[in-house]
Amino acid sequence: MAILNDNLAPMRIHPLSVIVLLVAWSVGAAGSAAGAAGGDSTMRAALVSAGKIQIGDVARPVAGPGQVLVNIRYAGVNPGDWKAAGGSAEAPAMPGASAAVNVPVIPGVDGAGVIAAVGQGVTGYRIGDAVILWSQARGTYAQYVAVPAATITLKPARLSFAEAAGVAHASLAAWNLLIDQARLRSGQTLLVLGGAGGVGSAAVQIATNRGAHVIATASARNADYLKALGASTVIDYSAQHFEDQLRNIDIALDTVDVDIAYRALAVVRRGGYLVSSVGLPLAAQCAAREVVCSGRTQTGTPIRLVLKQVADWSQAGIFRVNIDQTFELTEVLKAWQYSQAGHTRGKSVIRIND
Ligand SMILES: NC(=O)c1ccc[n+]([C@@H]2O[C@H](COP(=O)([O-])OP(=O)(O)OC[C@H]3O[C@@H](n4cnc5c(N)ncnc54)[C@H](OP(=O)(O)O)[C@@H]3O)[C@@H](O)[C@H]2O)c1
Repeated sequence: MAILNDNLAPMRIHPLSVIVLLVAWSVGAAGSAAGAAGGDSTMRAALVSAGKIQIGDVARPVAGPGQVLVNIRYAGVNPGDWKAAGGSAEAPAMPGASAAVNVPVIPGVDGAGVIAAVGQGVTGYRIGDAVILWSQARGTYAQYVAVPAATITLKPARLSFAEAAGVAHASLAAWNLLIDQARLRSGQTLLVLGGAGGVGSAAVQIATNRGAHVIATASARNADYLKALGASTVIDYSAQHFEDQLRNIDIALDTVDVDIAYRALAVVRRGGYLVSSVGLPLAAQCAAREVVCSGRTQTGTPIRLVLKQVADWSQAGIFRVNIDQTFELTEVLKAWQYSQAGHTRGKSVIRIND
């Protein structure tokens, strides 16, 4: 079973190790880094290579068969973006960014924008459609990205482009873990460890909309936020140990770290699930407790169906995306430092064109 390469060792990006270089601000104003002609053939993008971030002009992608080209309005910020930018042995996820190759790559796995071109064989979408998108090949910290039509959905009118940009990656992870792996059912009790972040906020709402009873951990300042999203109980992790209070939980979802996953084994009932976006206890320890431990996989519900469900819930007003911070494309380093601090409430986004 393929594991998505987001679950990587944290990398501290030291401010001095990163250069933000403004190469050419307007599209086509200078020769492209990729050697393409100016005008419509180039775009502005964030480029990561050898531990440096640059803003530059590169060749604009084209929509291949089955793909759409999207003019990005906002890109989502995800911890996997800065983890992958490390390019270390533990963090080889960013395609082309390995130390051996050093080819500049564009970060970003999700966003929202407007379709600028439709590739061969794509049905159901037109130029001008506003969409939410997930890009497994990355590339959303840019004015344009080409993605499979199977990994987009129409943006609900009720969500702004900024809010829509925060939907895909976190929701897909939460859905995979809760619905595809743990088979969450109405009436079950779910414990979300790290409820206030991107994955946690999505998980609380997916579970609430599926009829589950949700308990979440967070700092005290996020208690009201999580109750508004549907959590019935919020445990302040700085004041209380959840394992002193809880037992017989059907499903625990860990979004914080693997130490917390070990602690969570004590509260899940026999036959229950421990799912995690950040690592799991040793299989022998899960087996000893008769708990099914499972990480994020690429199998399960088709991406377009998950995105459509979350978009429908958003339009109905029962799925919200809280935008914590909005950064400019020139502020990628600042955005990643904020994310690394580990206290994003909901999502942060990068403004590309708005
Ligand atoms: N494998 C995959 O496909 C995949 C996909 C998505 C995410 N991930 C991983 O999953 C993790 C979470 O992602 P994310 O986007 O949700 O991150 P995030 O938005 O940056 O999470 C920040 C949240 O973590 C909470 N938090 C920090 N320490 C906590 C603690 N000790 N107990 C409870 N909550 C705590 C914070 O709440 P307070 O401010 O209240 O402290 C904050 O709201 C990351 O490591 C990411 O790389 C993996």
